[in-house]
Amino acid sequence: MSGTTVTNIWSICNVFLLSCFVQAFASHACPTLECWYLNEKAAQGGLTTPPSQDKSLLHIRTGGHRAAGLQDSDDPSILRVYHVADPAATLCHWRSRRGSNRKPYCELNRFQPQLSSISWAASLAGQLSPIYLQADWFSAAVQGLDGGPGTSTIMRAHTGTNELDVVLSVSSTTMVVQSRLGEQVLLDCNFWADPASPLHGSGFAVEWRYQSRGSGRVLLAYDGKSDRLVEPPEEGAMMDFEGLHRSGNASLVLQEAKVDHSGIYICMVYMPHLLAQVTIQLEITEPPSLSIHPSPLPLTAPGQSLTVHCEASGFAPHSLELSWELKGPDGKSKLLGPGQLTGHRQAGDGTYSQDTRLELDTSDPELGSGGELTCVARHPGGTRRASVALKVIGFSTPSIEDSMAMVGVALVLYGLIKIVSWTILPSDSNEAAESDKKKK
Ligand SMILES: *[C@@H]1O[C@H](CO)[C@@H](O)[C@H](O)[C@H]1NC(C)=O
Repeated sequence: MSGTTVTNIWSICNVFLLSCFVQAFASHACPTLECWYLNEKAAQGGLTTPPSQDKSLLHIRTGGHRAAGLQDSDDPSILRVYHVADPAATLCHWRSRRGSNRKPYCELNRFQPQLSSISWAASLAGQLSPIYLQADWFSAAVQGLDGGPGTSTIMRAHTGTNELDVVLSVSSTTMVVQSRLGEQVLLDCNFWADPASPLHGSGFAVEWRYQSRGSGRVLLAYDGKSDRLVEPPEEGAMMDFEGLHRSGNASLVLQEAKVDHSGIYICMVYMPHLLAQVTIQLEITEPPSLSIHPSPLPLTAPGQSLTVHCEASGFAPHSLELSWELKGPDGKSKLLGPGQLTGHRQAGDGTYSQDTRLELDTSDPELGSGGELTCVARHPGGTRRASVALKVIGFSTPSIEDSMAMVGVALVLYGLIKIVSWTILPSDSNEAAESDKKKK
């Protein structure tokens, strides 16, 4: 009795587990990848003809043997079909982002193994089988959309076939990184090298380069074979060398984001004769701080003009849109335009500031009733607002201070009238005071 229950539970478990496996496999299976093959041979005819692009298809196999009966494509527009052995599924990374199933951009090129610029790699040249290197080599660059993951892969073809082996892959989970000032920035980069390749174990090197507006520099160069820094990391840049050797984590960490860190970062991984790289764009975005002066605004008499300044400071990049708004007592907002803008000023830390000056003419009936005056700054890092109350005597909804001021004014006036009536018209003083009260 109890025995059958146990087997029943087991069979339920088995069915359940099996379906789980199938689902897991289906959701992680690496689909085929469509790539543009850049046909450079066709381009050699002349400078005027751009290289032709052939649509090609990569069937990616992440383990085991090639699925039997795998059809080459029926799609007549596909001119080349390759079968790629990619045990680490490096060509499937672009899918890792949740919900992202949009096709990535993929480019396939011929690759020519070359003697590396690294000195120790050059000395290895004689030790490697020339047959291994003289095969057909390809490089594929896969880029997810919306600045998502990206991978660059070097593949070797089995002689005379369209079967490729991934030999070296460099990937990043985010090819566009955004950061606020002062934050720690992670520039993600990972590499994988095929343990079955004769190149594996003969050493690697990692280099990070920075590029911005035509100039570039090496941020860090590390020789993994001799565990030595060829170029020490720039101040504030770090890499976990243990993680690099353990799992190929070549990520660069910038301890504190600065404005001049914005730019292009290239993670380059060398193996003897091979080089693969990914490019990451870093955008440092800091919204402005706003201040209005004078603040609070002085009490304004109707018809009096008033100058208000708004200063936006500490922002980067320098694109900013400043404007003014007035929300009247009726709750309706009115746009007052940008005001008079000054040019941008740059502070020592690279952030920008800009001012706007607004001349308010309270004789304008639309402004004369006062309200809430707001300075609005629209910036890629977000919209910021700062407000002050604009009070026009007699029109604005009276605040306690206004009421007290009005009572004060009334009292003073009353006193003056009293004095005047006592000194100039001593006989009629009582009557004058009486009639004055009646008027009020
Ligand atoms: C790679 O290393 C960095 C630190 O250098 C770390 O922050 C990051 O989490 C590591 N990535 C992985 C996938 O382990």
